[in-house]
Amino acid sequence: MPNHACDILSTDRPASCTLVIFGGSGDLTRRKLIPALYSLYRQNRLPEPFVIVGCSRTIMTDNQYRDKLKAGYENIGLDLSDWDAFSSLLNYYPLTYDLESFSGLREYLVHLDQVNHCRGNRIFDLAVPPSLYPIIADLLGRTSLSEQRNRNNGWTRIVVEKPFGRDLESALALDRILHASFKEEQIFRIDHYLAKETVQNMLIFRFANSIFEPIWNRHHIEYVGIIAAESMGVGSRAGYYEQAGVLRDMFQNHMMQLLVLTAMEPPCRLEAGSVQDEKIKVIRSLRDFHPDQGSRICLGQYGPGTIDGVDVTGYRQEPGVDQHSLVPTFALMELYVDNWRWQDVPFFLVSGKRLPRKKTQIIIQFKEVPHRLFKDVLGETIGANRLIIEIFPEEAIRLTFQTKNPGASICLRSMTMDFTYNEHYQGEPLEAYARVLLDCMNGDHMLFWRQDGIELSWSVLTPILQECEQCCNRDQQLHIYPAGSWGPEAADSRFQKLIHTP
Ligand SMILES: NC(=O)c1ccc[n+]([C@@H]2O[C@H](COP(=O)([O-])OP(=O)(O)OC[C@H]3O[C@@H](n4cnc5c(N)ncnc54)[C@H](OP(=O)(O)O)[C@@H]3O)[C@@H](O)[C@H]2O)c1
Repeated sequence: MPNHACDILSTDRPASCTLVIFGGSGDLTRRKLIPALYSLYRQNRLPEPFVIVGCSRTIMTDNQYRDKLKAGYENIGLDLSDWDAFSSLLNYYPLTYDLESFSGLREYLVHLDQVNHCRGNRIFDLAVPPSLYPIIADLLGRTSLSEQRNRNNGWTRIVVEKPFGRDLESALALDRILHASFKEEQIFRIDHYLAKETVQNMLIFRFANSIFEPIWNRHHIEYVGIIAAESMGVGSRAGYYEQAGVLRDMFQNHMMQLLVLTAMEPPCRLEAGSVQDEKIKVIRSLRDFHPDQGSRICLGQYGPGTIDGVDVTGYRQEPGVDQHSLVPTFALMELYVDNWRWQDVPFFLVSGKRLPRKKTQIIIQFKEVPHRLFKDVLGETIGANRLIIEIFPEEAIRLTFQTKNPGASICLRSMTMDFTYNEHYQGEPLEAYARVLLDCMNGDHMLFWRQDGIELSWSVLTPILQECEQCCNRDQQLHIYPAGSWGPEAADSRFQKLIHTP
């Protein structure tokens, strides 16, 4: 039987509050936020009382808003048996992004507080295009909606979705605007990757077991691979993606966080400040990227191809994409953490769209045995140990090692020890967005980005972006790969060794 030392997630409900979602009519709200809140409702984890207010320019009544959301979930077969009770928490307030509209919102929220006895606690979630972040933060400040009485009562928090700027300069500008109205303790910058069970388990796996930490370093590890592959194309998000590309969309945030969790030193305490401090040290230790080190990065863009037997178009043929676009949809980057533990161990970060399947994993490739005891018998290389932390689609941990094949002759066989979350834990898992929303209600910053981390992360990425976006032979640097392949041939030698287990 597994020994559950404790449930790290408290079953206490957070204090009552109102969650205001700007972009209440949008894709993120419909696909992630409302389903996450609904699942929290079904698990009795939401505050009581709790009020949700969707805000957007579209004119709708409360009932129209509820019905619109419900109709979308009926189409995808979500279990809606508790929807009617849940939907009584849902309200809708149409607004435009100006002072008059926000003054009206303030009156409306005061009214809701009185009716629902929500103690004035409020969360403002920015589920809107990033160009609106500064406008909303400013309007919340000018209408005093950003003010809070104290941390325990009448608190106000703001949730910011990635992207946090598009380079160092714009990240600093966004931060200045947020801080003009909000204190750092009020700001929650979401990276929902951090809330996935296996990602959180990285800390437990590394620091609650004594056997891994002594070998978690340059003496025993050959390289680390971090892969976030998607089979989907750009879909309906071309407008955003044409501005972002894979480096801004995936590397500045998710990939950087996975690297940091793999490489960080043990924090002195399991609390947000200590964990964030250790993460920052890793980003600060990343080796500078010089333009003459072009071989440390490979960029690609998907062309037409086939995925699961279905023909799909190339990126440049997708609706809303410039037919001469040089935006990368694939990147392989080789990074180094210059410190005592990791000196000269390559960290290969790979992410791309329209790859054969969706998978996110961290690979720890150990070194080969120092003395080839069996080389005369086998005359071949013995596969080195590999630890794979699977994040998606399965949440699992796998360790491969060599065993002897039964029989008279000596013949080695690579075996895998497998731990899969779903097989060993019962109960409904908490979806990543549900977890981050709950943590925000509880005021816990552990799974959120801190501003200094964002700035450091952009400091690393901005020179790379400049090199990729401003170099004169940009088109030659971008390798077209067929949709459904594992990226461009130019990345092959490094990527192939990552995706094929020994
Ligand atoms: N979608 C995702 O899976 C996802 C994942 C991670 C992060 N994010 C981030 O979350 C944020 C929201 O994403 P989303 O995909 O939900 O965006 P979206 O659907 O494009 O926009 C959300 C809502 O904002 C309003 N809006 C759009 N353009 C506007 C404009 N120019 N001025 C005023 N209002 C405008 C629209 O509502 P009205 O027309 O009714 O006002 C729209 O329903 C973005 O910053 C995105 O980068 C999204």
